[in-house]
Amino acid sequence: MSEALSLPKTGSRTEVYEALIPQIASLISDEPDLTANLANIAAALKEAFGFFWVGFYVAKEGQLVLSAFQGPIACTRIEFDKGVCGRAYSTGEGIIVPDVDAFPGHIACSSLSRSEVVVPIAAPGGGVFGVLDVDSDRLDDFSEVDLKGLSAVAALVEDKLNRDGAAQ
Ligand code: SME
Repeated sequence: MSEALSLPKTGSRTEVYEALIPQIASLISDEPDLTANLANIAAALKEAFGFFWVGFYVAKEGQLVLSAFQGPIACTRIEFDKGVCGRAYSTGEGIIVPDVDAFPGHIACSSLSRSEVVVPIAAPGGGVFGVLDVDSDRLDDFSEVDLKGLSAVAALVEDKLNRDGAAQ
């Protein structure tokens, strides 16, 4: 793995996801440590898209607990049935929220967050391992392109979990 990402300078988000996803696959391919991999994935997504906040919450101790992320400090624990992350966790479905103020129960970790997209990460053997959460400081910043691209990133994490488990 080279030390720098190679990304289209003027590409659409579709093109950037297409360029980025194989590089994320390569970035995590030889490293079994989960935290190291989640940290690099968050950094790669931040670098590629300049997201306001991007990171992972992992299910443990009966809650979603903050894991690797890039962006402002965030809520450390979210109940399984609370907020956008809790919705993605409890339904096992990705969700786009164009206006967080219009989402009942949205958890405002940052008052600057205006829209978000969250995708679940399936656990080996069933259930949900955690979620990948991306926030924007602009309204309506996410589309099906992000849902699809981020779901592909989540699938890379699922493959790693299936192969390596959650080595810390
Ligand atoms: N907005 C999320 C909480 C996590 S932070 O945005 C980082 C939610 O309602 O699930």
